[in-house]
Amino acid sequence: MTFLIDPEPSQAIFLCHSSELLERAEAVPFDLVYCGRNARGFAIRFEGQVHAYLNQCAHVPMEMDYQPNQFFDTTAQWLICATHGALYSPKTGKCWGGPCRSGLIKIAVSERDACIYWHTAPHLKSLAF
Ligand code: FES
Repeated sequence: MTFLIDPEPSQAIFLCHSSELLERAEAVPFDLVYCGRNARGFAIRFEGQVHAYLNQCAHVPMEMDYQPNQFFDTTAQWLICATHGALYSPKTGKCWGGPCRSGLIKIAVSERDACIYWHTAPHLKSLAF
């Protein structure tokens, strides 16, 4: 007999109003718990869509912003890690160049009624819970 365990239901956590997250501009940061430890995430808008990632480089697990909440490179086409220059796709978080071999850890987001939410997952929890 097989028992299915219900996964913890995902929760939508309010992040910011849509007007606060501009195309290829400053990210909106948020605190969370990743695999049991406090961490930071960030959300960006790219080609009109909101994307969010754990703020942790895939090369060395360090935060990536070169100035607070600045992740886009000078072309505004890629997310760049300030430490050694790894480049990531803003759409997928996949490594595009530099010393990274894998990608960023993506965080589910949604946008409705002019508000942006990030979604918890079994490995990503809100600090409030
Ligand atoms: S720590 Fe990000 S590129 Fe090395």
